[in-house]
Amino acid sequence: MTVFYSSLWRKLWCLSPYCGHLGVIFARGCVLHPCHRLLRQYSHSKAGLVTAAELVSYWQDVFEANEIPEARASSEYIVSYVLGAKTFQSLNAGNISPYFSVQQQEQVEQLCAKRLQRMPVQYVLGEWDFQDLTLKMKPPVFIPRRETEELVTLVVDEECRKRLPSSDCKEPRLPPETHGPVILEVGCGSGAIALSLLKKLPHSKVIAIDKLEAAVNLTKENAERLNLQERVSVLHHEVSSSSWKYLLPWGLVDTIISNPPYVFHEDMTHLATEIHSYEDLGALDGGSDGMNIIREILHLACYLLKDYGSVFLEVEPRHPEMVKNWLRGHPDLSLVVCGTHKDFCGKLRFLHIQKHGR
Ligand SMILES: C[S@@+](CC[C@H](N)C(=O)[O-])C[C@H]1O[C@@H](n2cnc3c(N)ncnc32)[C@H](O)[C@@H]1O
Repeated sequence: MTVFYSSLWRKLWCLSPYCGHLGVIFARGCVLHPCHRLLRQYSHSKAGLVTAAELVSYWQDVFEANEIPEARASSEYIVSYVLGAKTFQSLNAGNISPYFSVQQQEQVEQLCAKRLQRMPVQYVLGEWDFQDLTLKMKPPVFIPRRETEELVTLVVDEECRKRLPSSDCKEPRLPPETHGPVILEVGCGSGAIALSLLKKLPHSKVIAIDKLEAAVNLTKENAERLNLQERVSVLHHEVSSSSWKYLLPWGLVDTIISNPPYVFHEDMTHLATEIHSYEDLGALDGGSDGMNIIREILHLACYLLKDYGSVFLEVEPRHPEMVKNWLRGHPDLSLVVCGTHKDFCGKLRFLHIQKHGR
C-alpha cells in the first residue's frame, strides 16, 4: 500500500479535476473498483520489473483519462527519453534495456506530472529535434514546429541553385569559402532556423535577432552546445521601421529569413491550452491582419538586402495574396514575390521574395 501515498496518487486523486473520468474508463469490464484496479496495476509494476510498453500504455491511459492531447505520443516520448532513446520505435531497434528501475519509474512519473499540467512535451523533456540538430528547449521560448524545417530547406535549395552550375550540389563553381551567404534571421527563438542553416551551409554567417531576452540566451546556448557560435551573432533587438540603422554595421545581407509572429489577433483565442499556458504569445500574435512584423521585415529588406537578395517567410495561407497586394502598393521597396510554396499538409505557407536592382 505504500504506493497509495506516492506523489503520483496524491496528484491523481487529490488535485486532478478529472478523477471521475478515470472511473468511467477503467471500470469497463473490471471486477475491482476502477480506482483499485489502476492502483493495483501500478503497484504491481513498482514491485517488479516493468517494461517500456507497459509504462507507455499505463501513462497513455492516465493522459486520456485527463483529456491530455496526443496521449500516446506524449507517453512514448517521455518513456523513451528516460531510457535514453529518441523514439519508442528506436527502443526496440537499439540495445537499450526495455526494463525500468524504480528510479527511472519515478523520473517518468515526475515528467508525466508536468504533462498532466498541460506542459508541452518539448518543455517537459527540455530538448527537441529540429532537422538533424537536438536543441535545448525552455519555456517560454517558442518551440520550433515541423513545417519550419521546410522553410530551412527552401533556403538551402536556393543557395545550391544560385551557387552551383547544376542543381545537384556536387560541383561548386567557385571555392565555397569565397561566397558563403550572410543571412539575417528575424525572431530566432531557440535558434532552430539559424543553427540549421549554419550546419547545412558550412560557409554561411548568420545574424540572429529576437526581442525576447530568453530567446537570445537560448539561441546562444544552443549555438555553443552545437559548436556553431563562431559564425553567428545573436542580438537582442526588436524589429521596427528604424532597425536598419541598428543592423547596417553588420553589412548588407544575401538573405533574410523569418518565421515571424503571424497569427491574426482574433485567432489567438483558438490556440491550444499548451500554447496559452507556456509559450510566449508575443511569438505568435501578428496583430489584426497577422502582418505587423511581416511589414517591418519587408521595410528592413529594402535597406539591408543586397540587390537580387532574397527574403524567405513562413506565413499563414491568407498571407501570400495579402503580401503580394501590399508590395504592389509599395513599389519603392523594390521587392517582388517570386515564389510561394506549400507545406507538407498542402497549405500555402512559404513566401520567397526577391529584391530587384534599382
Ligand atoms: C514564431 S517564433 C519563431 C522562432 C524560431 N525562429 C522558430 O521558427 O522556431 C517568432 C519569434 O519572433 C520573436 N519576435 C516577435 N516580435 C519580434 C520583433 N518585433 N523583433 C524581433 N523578434 C520578434 C519572438 O520573440 C519569437 O522568438
